[in-house]
Amino acid sequence: MNATMRHLLPLLLLAVIATGCQEMYDQPKVKPLAKSDFFSDGFGARQPIAGTVARGHMKLDDQLYTGKAPVGAATPAGDSGAAAVPSQWATSDRSWTFPMPVTREVLARGHEQFNVFCSPCHGKLGDGKGMIVQRGFKAPPSFHEERLRTAPPGYVFSVITNGFGVMYSYASRVPVNDRWAIAAYIKALQLSQNMDASQLTPQQQRGLEGKK
Ligand code: HEC
Repeated sequence: MNATMRHLLPLLLLAVIATGCQEMYDQPKVKPLAKSDFFSDGFGARQPIAGTVARGHMKLDDQLYTGKAPVGAATPAGDSGAAAVPSQWATSDRSWTFPMPVTREVLARGHEQFNVFCSPCHGKLGDGKGMIVQRGFKAPPSFHEERLRTAPPGYVFSVITNGFGVMYSYASRVPVNDRWAIAAYIKALQLSQNMDASQLTPQQQRGLEGKK
């Protein structure tokens, strides 16, 4: 083998591999939602069979997936926040409370996911002044205005799930439990920004004044 060939060999190999990839790309296959002559309905994609539920899509827990519980539903063990849903939000047959106990872990997860998915627009404080807004996107309302401060967690959950106005739905990006965790964190954030100092412990009050 002379020197030129030794140089050409790797190139030749690469060409063979690349051609192989192209063939895989062009293989006969049905692309999602493409037309097909194979099935009588003309669709390439198949519809779910009537009466069946795909794995992971069984939505038996109405409250978990809609944010709304039947009025009088049992409060999740250890959750004192659920009782605090203001009466104007407890509509005739629904009260929008948490479907699970709000633990420190849930809040920590909500905090993290809020910062990832919501703070770019709503700001880390929930004041609606996130970076995307500073760059020109429509400003969302502050979470600390009266209407949203008194909104139950199930409402926040439903906004994340279904979208609201120009805000799109996060249902495909944020799993259902994380949506609840974010709603819980927003409730905590609202409390933190609207707390009456007299409700703090004497030690916390001293902390506010910068004393130990
Ligand atoms: C791309 C920017 C953007 C992101 C990201 C975003 N939002 Fe919004 N959000 C908005 C805007 C804008 C509005 C106001 C929509 C309107 O009035 O058309 C809004 C409105 C809301 C409202 C108030 C609805 C009402 O009744 O006024 C809530 C609650 C909310 N968003 C929660 C969230 C949560 C939770 C997340 C993260 C999972 C999130 N948003 C992510 C832009 C965003």
